[in-house]
Amino acid sequence: MVGEGSGFRRLLITGATGFVGSRLVRGFLDSGISVGALLRAESSADHLDPRATILRHDGTTSDLHALTQTFAPEAVIHAATHFVGAHRPDDIVRLIRANLLFGTQLLDAMGRCGIRKVLNFGTSWQHFDGDRYSPATLYAATKQAFEDIAAYYAEAEGFSILTLKLPDTYGPADRRGKLISALLRARAEGKSLDLSPGEQRINLLHIDDVFSAVCVALGRACTNPTGTREAFALRGPETVSLRELVARIQRVGGRPVPVAWGARPYRSREVMRPWVGPLLPGWSADIGLDRGLTELIDTA
Ligand SMILES: NC(=O)c1ccc[n+]([C@@H]2O[C@H](COP(=O)([O-])OP(=O)(O)OC[C@H]3O[C@@H](n4cnc5c(N)ncnc54)[C@H](OP(=O)(O)O)[C@@H]3O)[C@@H](O)[C@H]2O)c1
Repeated sequence: MVGEGSGFRRLLITGATGFVGSRLVRGFLDSGISVGALLRAESSADHLDPRATILRHDGTTSDLHALTQTFAPEAVIHAATHFVGAHRPDDIVRLIRANLLFGTQLLDAMGRCGIRKVLNFGTSWQHFDGDRYSPATLYAATKQAFEDIAAYYAEAEGFSILTLKLPDTYGPADRRGKLISALLRARAEGKSLDLSPGEQRINLLHIDDVFSAVCVALGRACTNPTGTREAFALRGPETVSLRELVARIQRVGGRPVPVAWGARPYRSREVMRPWVGPLLPGWSADIGLDRGLTELIDTA
C-alpha cells in the first residue's frame, strides 16, 4: 500500500511523537519500511513505536545534516509543528522555531545530502476565505510561509515537495486535548463543557485516512519530476456543524454529552465553513464519522 511502486525502504519522519507523526511511524513500520524518527533533544519517546530508529538532533543545521546523511532516507515526511489556535506573545518564538526555522534547516540539510523528496503538511486554515491564501491564524500564516520557503528549494535545488493540507483530524491515541477528546471527556465524566454557539461547520478526517493519503502521496512524490511543488487538500467524508457533531456523539455513544452552548464566544476569524480545496488525486477518505466515533468511544 505504501506509495505503491515507490520502492521506499527508509523514511525519515519529523514530528514523530505527534498525533499524525506517530500514526505514520507505526503504519510504515508495519509495512516493513525502516523509519527514522527525528526528535528534539527534549522530546519524550515514551509513546514512540520502539521499532523506530530515534535520531535526536541538537537544533543545529550541521547536526541535522549529519543525522540525515547517516540515516540516508529516500524521502522525508515533515510532520513537526507548533500548533496554537489563538496565539499569545510567547507563542511567536515557538511558532517560528517549529514551523519555519526547523523546516528550513531540514530542507537545507537534506539538499546537502542529495535527498530531495519531501512530504509536508499544511492546514485548511491557510484558506480562511475560499481558495486564495487567507490565514485564519498566525499558525496558518507560518505554515504558508514555510511553503513559500520550500518553493525556493524546489525551484533552485530541484526538490520535489508535496504538501497535504489537513482539516481537523481525530482518532485513537490523540494526546493533543482537542475538540473530540474534550467532548469524550465531558461525556465520560458528566462535566459540562463550555462551547461557542456551535454553528461552525467542521470537517473531520480520521487519522487512518491520513495514513492512507500519505501512502498515495508518497507514490506520487516518487514519480513527480524534480522541481515539482504540489499542494492538495485532504477531507473527511462528512462536514457537520459543531452542534451536529455533539448530537452524533450522543447518538452513537448512547449517552448525553453535557455542553453549555454559547458559554464561549466564537474565536476571532472562527472558520465557519471549511475550505474545499483540490483533493489529493487517487485518494478518498474511507472512515465515516459514525464508524470513527463508535470505535473511539468503544476503546476509550
Ligand atoms: N492533526 C491535525 O488536525 C492537523 C490539522 C491541520 C494541519 N496539521 C499539520 O499536520 C502536521 C502534524 O500535526 P500533528 O497534529 O501531528 O501535530 P502535534 O500532535 O502537535 O505534534 C507536533 C510534533 O512536532 C514536534 N515539534 C514541536 N515543536 C518542534 C520544534 N521546534 N522542532 C522540532 N519538532 C517540533 C513535536 O515534538 P515534541 O515531542 O518534541 O514536542 C511533535 O512531535 C503538522 O504539520 C500540522 O501543522 C495537523
